[in-house]
Amino acid sequence: MRNPASSSSLWRPWTPITQQGDPLRIVEARGTRVRDADGNWYLDGISGVLNASCGHGHPRLIETATRQLRQLVHYDPMVSSHDPAETLASRLAGILPGELNETVLLNSGSEATEAAIRIALQYWRNIGEARDRVITFETGYHGSTYLAQQLSGLPFTVSEWARPFPIDHVGIPMTPREVRTAESADALIARFAEALEKDTPAAAVMVEPLLGLGGCVVLPEGFLARLRQLCDRHGSLLILDEVFCGFGRTGRMFGFDHDGIAPDIVTMSKGISGGHLPLAAVTVTSPIKESFKHEPIAQGLRYGHTTGGHAVASAVANTVLDVMADEKLVENSATQGAELVEGLRKLESSPLITDVRGLGLVVAIETDGPESGEAIANAAARAGVMTRHERGVIRIAPPLTISSDETAEILDAIRSGVDLATAAGNRRT
Ligand SMILES: Cc1ncc(COP(=O)(O)O)c(C=O)c1O
Repeated sequence: MRNPASSSSLWRPWTPITQQGDPLRIVEARGTRVRDADGNWYLDGISGVLNASCGHGHPRLIETATRQLRQLVHYDPMVSSHDPAETLASRLAGILPGELNETVLLNSGSEATEAAIRIALQYWRNIGEARDRVITFETGYHGSTYLAQQLSGLPFTVSEWARPFPIDHVGIPMTPREVRTAESADALIARFAEALEKDTPAAAVMVEPLLGLGGCVVLPEGFLARLRQLCDRHGSLLILDEVFCGFGRTGRMFGFDHDGIAPDIVTMSKGISGGHLPLAAVTVTSPIKESFKHEPIAQGLRYGHTTGGHAVASAVANTVLDVMADEKLVENSATQGAELVEGLRKLESSPLITDVRGLGLVVAIETDGPESGEAIANAAARAGVMTRHERGVIRIAPPLTISSDETAEILDAIRSGVDLATAAGNRRT
């Protein structure tokens, strides 16, 4: 029986127990808009869970899902294969650069991290080299399963349990506003070089192309290309986490496309199915997959899930790629993102705003503290625009289908939020 003191039996993760009661209840979503239980419509500035890249309830995605549900819901990936997964794997090989041809399909971004790390560590064993050290950003985020959570040093996700293998965290010695400068690239690369040079050779370096949960931090131009060179010099695998950035979010198909490089392993989720169904993918180079012929126990990958590469989710992902091409969503992400950042930068004259940064349709407004951030985000919601506020940083990542008028609507809502917060004296003195 439910505790009478609590209004809900639903335990919402990442939310303090004292704040579980009476959340905003979303009952409907269409295109770029969502409606709450009180009948209020909002322009969705956060794409659901930062994943509804084609908008909500896209008719072509619903049609595909319905057709696939009628034909084949799913079947055991251990004993069989099916067309939606086969097609998706080959299409991913087509859009990913270099030798990234071999895809494992899973359900969530965390599972993709889990698989990527296991594959990387096992690869070294397969080829007879003892490497198990992983290097990553201290303020990165790669998921919340046991292994994935170990990679993050962010105070609100950090794991207190024993490390399953050595992990070296690289700190960022400057503010998010300073990170994107050319001088910062030198400093960041020097830190990764130091981490690679110390101790035993590293198995892998894993980073996001833009630090999403770590404050929407845009990395300096050319950083990933230099990290690629560094990994090559040390023979370490480069794993790029495209869970958030992939599928057009940053104005290119993948975040690493900005630097024109190819990682050895790439993880994907969120936008892959336009957020319509749970799906994730890990794509590796052919030599990495081939090495598993020498895996001592199963001569294959000892990792996978019942619903991994679910037929309906995979079918939807194939249509997502069609929708993205037909509706030119990558291009729209770049154009609307630039408009949004340009408009928001005009707010930097406000004492409440300390930085505006973004890449494609990942945009962050850093405020002078959590109080201002919350006041501005709440005012924007009252004005009909949903954003996400965390620790003073307001994240805006609308569906890639957003129009110029809707971008203007976001700008108006944020502008009025800043005015209201200023008038209410949300300035720290
Ligand atoms: C960059 C990145 N990696 C991994 C994850 C974990 O994905 P999931 O929540 O689907 O497990 C997230 C989730 O926000 C993410 O942003």
